[in-house]
Amino acid sequence: MKNITVVGVGYVGIITGTCFADLGNNVCGLDSSEEKIASLKAGVMPIYQQGLKELADRNVKAGRLSFTTSYEEAINGHQAEFVFICVGTPEGVDGEADLKYVRAAAQSIAEVMDHPLVIINKSTVPVGTGDWVADIVREAQPELIPFSVVSCPEFLREGSAISDFMNPDRTILGSRDPEAAEKVAQLHLPLRAPIVVTNLRTAEMIKYASNAFLATKISFINEIANICEALDADVQEVAAGMGLDGRIGSAMLNAGIGYGGSCFPKDVKALAYMANVKGSHPQLLQAVMDINEFQRKTVVLKTRAILGEDLTGRTVGLLGLAFKAGTDDMREAPSVDIAQMLQAAGATVKGYDPVAMEWAARVIPNIQLADDAYDLVAGCDAVIVCTEWNEFKQLNLERAKELMKQPVIVDGRNIYDPGAMKKAGLIYRGVGRGHDGGASQTTP
Ligand SMILES: NC(=O)c1ccc[n+]([C@@H]2O[C@H](COP(=O)([O-])OP(=O)(O)OC[C@H]3O[C@@H](n4cnc5c(N)ncnc54)[C@H](O)[C@@H]3O)[C@@H](O)[C@H]2O)c1
Repeated sequence: MKNITVVGVGYVGIITGTCFADLGNNVCGLDSSEEKIASLKAGVMPIYQQGLKELADRNVKAGRLSFTTSYEEAINGHQAEFVFICVGTPEGVDGEADLKYVRAAAQSIAEVMDHPLVIINKSTVPVGTGDWVADIVREAQPELIPFSVVSCPEFLREGSAISDFMNPDRTILGSRDPEAAEKVAQLHLPLRAPIVVTNLRTAEMIKYASNAFLATKISFINEIANICEALDADVQEVAAGMGLDGRIGSAMLNAGIGYGGSCFPKDVKALAYMANVKGSHPQLLQAVMDINEFQRKTVVLKTRAILGEDLTGRTVGLLGLAFKAGTDDMREAPSVDIAQMLQAAGATVKGYDPVAMEWAARVIPNIQLADDAYDLVAGCDAVIVCTEWNEFKQLNLERAKELMKQPVIVDGRNIYDPGAMKKAGLIYRGVGRGHDGGASQTTP
């Protein structure tokens, strides 16, 4: 049992804190947001993540998980040995990662700490940030108290965050202090994953390189999907055939409307920025970003190809709004850009999402929110699938067709079978499923 403090209880922090508590540690979650901490104290989770509330409630009840806004209480009162920094690192000017929250957290820790600490960067931070954090702490300490900085990047995915945290593929640790790295390694032993210990800068780079590679896989299959449409091939089957090759693997080969969320977009940009600053030319990263931006446009182009360029007087429904299924996160969600493009072409935009409606209403101006999937399709000239929620996969197609003004489905996530869509009398366009949406290939 170790005393752990987690600074920043957003997506990564609340999962990190709750899971470490569940492993038997004593965890204090700290956030600068009074509102977030008040909600947590009242048992209301700040994010949607399946299984999180039950896990947090259990650990709060067992006395292993508590929350505060006070650094004094979280670090000294809690007698923390380990402090995880899990604050946001959003996109800043020109794609550079904005480190203002990391700086503030490091300063606040340094100002109050009255005993030695291992400070662990879990936030995704540019290469060199570990040393920079150490400088900040050293300068902000009223008196010299020993501390070490360890980089421990997080690889969890929203939607499966708890199981990803508990069953990671690997733990990456980087530090100038082998003893501190060893202590953090011990903390991760119950997760029974390979532990890679390296230097600070390399650990930070592993996180960016991993995210950039995954984003590249997505843009790659999307480019192949676009070529499939031109050549009348089916990208779903192409991906399945490719994925069986052990050197390629089947993960991240789902063609669609591109990546979004709080990580891939900003991390690819931040890596390209770091490369550019050092005079390197990240041409592949640039292509990955360009393809991703274009991919969001493709569903709008397909919709306009069917309904006409001018969408004035047309209603288009967005089925799913969150950037992916299993989360309420609307950061960099493709649906936001898609709604904007449709509105710019004159359309009225409706939207429905099982969990992201509140957030969506804040970031998509003038969107008309529907009560469920059927309410969404009602009166629509076209429906665009933006998020692959399970509850959309077995939609009653006959009922949907009856409710729609025009039976047009543009499936940005390839959740439907083109043959079944055609059979139900719907005009269907998937992503990369042949030049007519794939219907001709799968229908007898
Ligand atoms: N979201 C993911 O799926 C994911 C996965 C892996 C890595 N990451 C990385 O983890 C980091 C955190 O991401 P997130 O999605 O959890 O962010 P988030 O915005 O959801 O949470 C950050 C939290 O930090 C708090 N905060 C900001 N400044 C603070 C301060 N000075 N003191 C205390 N609290 C402060 C905010 O109030 C917020 O609650 C980022 O660097 C991100 O790139 C995120």
